[in-house]
Amino acid sequence: MVNLAPGAGLLERKDRELAAILEISRVLTASFDLEENLGAVMRVLSGGLEMQRGCVFLRDPSSAEVRIVAAHGLTREEVLRGKYRIGEGIVGRVMESGKAMFIPNIGEEPKFLNKTGSRPDKNGISFICEPIRFKGEMLGVITTDRIYSASSGGVDDDIRVLQIVSSLIAQFVKLWESYRKVEEERQNLKMELLQRYSLPNIIGESEKFQSVLKAIMKVAGTDTTVLLLGESGTGKELIAHTTHYQSPRGKGPFVAVNCAALPENLLEVELFGQEKGAFTGADRRRIGRFEAANGGTLFLDEIGELPLQLQAKLLRVLEEKTFERVGSSRSIRADVRIIAATNRNLEEEVKKGAFRADLYWRLNVVSIVLPPLRERQKDIPLLVDYYLEKFNRTYGKNVRAGTETLKCMIKYSWPGNIRELANTIERLVIMAEKDTLDPEDLPYNFRAEEPAAQRRLPSETDFPLGAEVKNLERQRIIKALKENNFIQQKTAFALGITPRKLAYRIKKYDIDLAAIK
Ligand SMILES: Nc1ncnc2c1ncn2[C@@H]1O[C@H](COP(=O)(O)OP(=O)(O)O)[C@@H](O)[C@H]1O
Ligand SMILES: [Mg+2]
Repeated sequence: MVNLAPGAGLLERKDRELAAILEISRVLTASFDLEENLGAVMRVLSGGLEMQRGCVFLRDPSSAEVRIVAAHGLTREEVLRGKYRIGEGIVGRVMESGKAMFIPNIGEEPKFLNKTGSRPDKNGISFICEPIRFKGEMLGVITTDRIYSASSGGVDDDIRVLQIVSSLIAQFVKLWESYRKVEEERQNLKMELLQRYSLPNIIGESEKFQSVLKAIMKVAGTDTTVLLLGESGTGKELIAHTTHYQSPRGKGPFVAVNCAALPENLLEVELFGQEKGAFTGADRRRIGRFEAANGGTLFLDEIGELPLQLQAKLLRVLEEKTFERVGSSRSIRADVRIIAATNRNLEEEVKKGAFRADLYWRLNVVSIVLPPLRERQKDIPLLVDYYLEKFNRTYGKNVRAGTETLKCMIKYSWPGNIRELANTIERLVIMAEKDTLDPEDLPYNFRAEEPAAQRRLPSETDFPLGAEVKNLERQRIIKALKENNFIQQKTAFALGITPRKLAYRIKKYDIDLAAIK
């Protein structure tokens, strides 16, 4: 160690120190890349202050080690080897004690481990290890190797420079840590947003509903049978549709059969088709829904209503993937994915003997329960908005729900679930005479003080049979007819009334089918 005598050399050295420190403070904030900035610091130190080798070690929070984050004069392999546990070697000791260390000649120092292997000959090399500390917290250390000669500065100068540099580094590391934390949180939030399941026309942010969508996305990629359970109007059919479109079969047909809509013998023909002459009146061959759904998805709605005899046939199709048309013994293969739905408690039905246990287990590979609307109140405002917008568009209006009105809607128990909500909003939009809906505009059973037990679906008799209501019903029927291609059976089903009742109302309201087609 040689102390330089005061004079021109010393002044020049001080100038270089100052320039180096200035440069270091500049490069430290040049980017938000920790390793890049620290690497630049080491380059400045080596160039400006003739430090042969230098490293910045930082504490690795995940492993309780300090490891090299930036280095000068070391190969990649040497950098990777540069890891110390707290207390190990000089670096580990400085980390532990928080006190700087100076080794005049590392060749004579047994504690000097040279783990990086970067010094083939340790003799004559001095080593300085300075803590990097922020408000008493040890963040890491900065080390340098020097070979002191008459022309180079003294150890005291080096230590002073390193102290300044390490405090600059400490501030930068802290800044970088908080930046990284914010950035990580931002990324996490972004990921969370991306992972929220969002599908067109499906509204639901509540946890319960999100887990339904998550399950749907999981099963969509498979061919497993899915059983959808839930009260009427909770979205079973919509979810079945979505599962189909999200699946590789999405381009194939989606065929829905309502097992409650037809008597047993007709349902059998509907499902499996029929050969000409199968029984009296069978004057033509009919393709069943199973065949129609080939390559796609067959949605068996209200599966709980399937007659026992057909349950046995369905089980066979599920197990063997083959079936016969009514009146034929020729087996037909069908590549069909089944999604079944029911609002019944199938386990109860099994116990009662109304539903075959083996079919239940066969269908119940994956069952997804759709929560009733009253269990996902968080989604009510979203659904109200969605349907207001939809029906405003349909009816060319601009109706909004007032805050109090929305509160009543959130409190309401919605026994008919989303179907009831959609119908209620449609009715409100049609009837609205002003743009803002007040609580008085809601059907009387929305009144919050009414005990839940008394709540029920609004029925025809809830409304005075004013001209408005008649007009409303008339409009609904016309709309449903159009939506169902004027097939009265389908229209009646969509409206939840019998075909006979529909025919009666078409007459009563004087709906001219030819004119509206
Ligand atoms: N999450 C949802 N977002 C928007 N509309 C929904 C949602 N779930 C159901 N609906 C709507 O509610 C009505 C009833 O849904 P549907 O699937 O027929 O219920 P279910 O088959 O359980 O009786 C349909 O008009 C459907 O589009
Ligand atoms: Mg349904």
